[in-house]
Amino acid sequence: MLSLAFRRLIFVSTIYFTATIAQSIFDWETLKPSTTLDWKPCYGSPFQCTRLKVPFDYSAPEIGYASIAIVRLPSTAPKSKYRGPILYNPGGPGGSGVDSVVSPAGAYFASIFGDQYDIVGFDPRGVSYSTPTISFFKTEAERRFLIPSPTNVIYPSLNASSNALSQVWAENQLLGQLALAIDTSHLFQHMSTDNIARDMLAITKAFGQEKLQYYGISYGSVLGATFATLFPDKVERMILDGVFVMESYFTLNMTSMMVDADPSLQSFFDGCYQAGPEGCPFYEPSASAISAKLDNLTATVKEKPFVVLTPGSYGLIDYDFFRNVILDSLFDPYDSESGFEPLAQALASLAEGNATALYNMGAVPTFECQAPTEAFHLNNLEAYMAIACGDALPINDTLAELQEYWANGLSTSSFSDVLSAPRVFCAGYKTHRAGRFVGPMGANTSVPLLLVGNSLDAGTAHVGAVQTSKLFPRSAVLTQDCVGHTSLVAPSACTAAYFGAYFANGTLPAPGTICPIDIEMFPSSANASTKRTLQTSEEKRLLDAWGKISRATPRRAL
Ligand SMILES: *[C@@H]1O[C@H](CO)[C@@H](O)[C@H](O)[C@H]1NC(C)=O
Ligand SMILES: *[C@@H]1O[C@H](CO)[C@@H](O)[C@H](O)[C@H]1NC(C)=O
Ligand SMILES: *[C@@H]1O[C@H](CO)[C@@H](O)[C@H](O)[C@H]1NC(C)=O
Ligand SMILES: *[C@@H]1O[C@H](CO)[C@@H](O)[C@H](O)[C@H]1NC(C)=O
Ligand SMILES: *[C@@H]1O[C@H](CO)[C@@H](O)[C@H](O)[C@H]1NC(C)=O
Ligand SMILES: *[C@@H]1O[C@H](CO)[C@@H](O)[C@H](O)[C@H]1NC(C)=O
Ligand SMILES: *[C@@H]1O[C@H](CO)[C@@H](O)[C@H](O)[C@H]1NC(C)=O
Ligand SMILES: *[C@@H]1O[C@H](CO)[C@@H](O)[C@H](O)[C@H]1NC(C)=O
Repeated sequence: MLSLAFRRLIFVSTIYFTATIAQSIFDWETLKPSTTLDWKPCYGSPFQCTRLKVPFDYSAPEIGYASIAIVRLPSTAPKSKYRGPILYNPGGPGGSGVDSVVSPAGAYFASIFGDQYDIVGFDPRGVSYSTPTISFFKTEAERRFLIPSPTNVIYPSLNASSNALSQVWAENQLLGQLALAIDTSHLFQHMSTDNIARDMLAITKAFGQEKLQYYGISYGSVLGATFATLFPDKVERMILDGVFVMESYFTLNMTSMMVDADPSLQSFFDGCYQAGPEGCPFYEPSASAISAKLDNLTATVKEKPFVVLTPGSYGLIDYDFFRNVILDSLFDPYDSESGFEPLAQALASLAEGNATALYNMGAVPTFECQAPTEAFHLNNLEAYMAIACGDALPINDTLAELQEYWANGLSTSSFSDVLSAPRVFCAGYKTHRAGRFVGPMGANTSVPLLLVGNSLDAGTAHVGAVQTSKLFPRSAVLTQDCVGHTSLVAPSACTAAYFGAYFANGTLPAPGTICPIDIEMFPSSANASTKRTLQTSEEKRLLDAWGKISRATPRRAL
């Protein structure tokens, strides 16, 4: 029972790097942490790794040191053209920058940003290969008992049943108490975003550079903005993509960030209708009829979950599962496995009684009792709580206040039952460092920031980029004309060219710039254009690169 309930706890990224890693295992313990960057080959050529020693507390180094796991894809340009590192953060918080760069993403970033840079992934303190690796459990087996599949998790719906909220609340109270009990050295309080920003400065300096070059998506926008606020004169280049409404992060009030969620779903209905019955298997003769058909299926699932048994796996499509598959699709609508077209196919088949395809879209690998010991670094849940809940102002809400909070959110989005959950997750977490940075964000940076927002982003609404721009004078907003979470979800030669120009020359897009994308929402539709064949060879190279990055980075990060 407990394991099923806990399976639904995490509100972080689904990082599907396991299939894409060049050489999935590297023993980080073979690298001795030091205060200089001592690069050693890792994960197969051309990757290089190192561990950097940083103080837990920059004002009290005597407490001890964390070691930051860093991987780089070295620049291939001649030395005279070398332009230093670009640090990347994939969001979460809790996403592994190492795993991202060691996926195809690293090579494709290099092709967009240019070969003059080292593409650098690091695991924020507490995350994955950086030590200490935050865990609320003593062993991986113990963790797997509660969280069978740490990389593929399901958001709980606070409306799944009349006691769903109290259940989620209680589970997270338990996690908060486990954290307190295991953290006898009081180290978790130092895993805060301000310290991660200080670590980024330390990494930059260890490279021999004065100023940071950075690309961060989703929560990575909070990390970047924190850095820019604390060290405004240390910014060389900074692109924030899928930008938070900054104060939402610290107050754990997600309401203003979910304004794009329902319009994103509407774009599924409209797109399906326009694609026609040939292009969209879930087609009905109007967008509102498609919407009604989805409502009917949702109600059916809530009344009576589907039981699924496939050759590879088995499980249930219940209300939580169903809403997660839909939300996943809103986050990544152009994806060939979780996007709108496969969703339409799976929904159509579910409506006819075949649940296999929809189950496969969200399936969690079957629990294995013998948890792989090398997977202990997959600590998304604990890292999320230590960083996001630890950063935030303490949540003292009663259950009645939490109920009121998410129910009020319904007037902003019908997905409030899932998107409001972080406040409930963090209500049980009691480890906060006094004096940590909790905003306000904003500063006049040495170089203006480039902020990127999709026209509709269900997780980090476009308004996040607009509001953040007001906090950083001279920054620019680039809008990518698409649905989904962060610009990486859809290839756009236009966006890629702006990224390249910004890193090369600091050039910002003109106010109001909107980039089209180069992929169709329903590619099989007779009405789909031939966008993908219209590119010059250079555009095509960038476009392909973009698509591959989106498939190698977190799909569902907040
Ligand atoms: C919450 O659940 C109730 C009862 O099943 C249902 O009537 C209501 O529409 C649901 N609300 C949302 C936003 O899903
Ligand atoms: C959350 O923000 C919304 C507006 O975005 C506001 O109406 C609501 O009162 C806030 N809730 C809490 C608990 O602060
Ligand atoms: C293609 O688009 C046109 C105009 O948007 C629409 O009238 C037509 O029905 C669409 N074709 C299909 C197959 O849906
Ligand atoms: C869904 O639609 C079918 C067919 O129109 C209907 O029989 C069924 O009662 C509906 N189910 C729900 C839960 O609304
Ligand atoms: C159900 O759908 C799957 C594909 O999603 C297919 O392989 C399977 O044959 C279908 N089952 C039946 C009974 O039609
Ligand atoms: C929550 O409680 C703590 C400790 O009692 C207090 O310091 C903090 O101000 C409270 N937070 C809010 C938002 O009321
Ligand atoms: C920001 O800094 C630039 C250059 O350092 C300066 O020209 C500008 O006036 C400053 N703007 C504000 C709003 O402080
Ligand atoms: C940067 O500026 C130079 C000189 O104006 C230009 O030749 C180059 O194409 C620019 N680079 C990018 C990536 O825009």
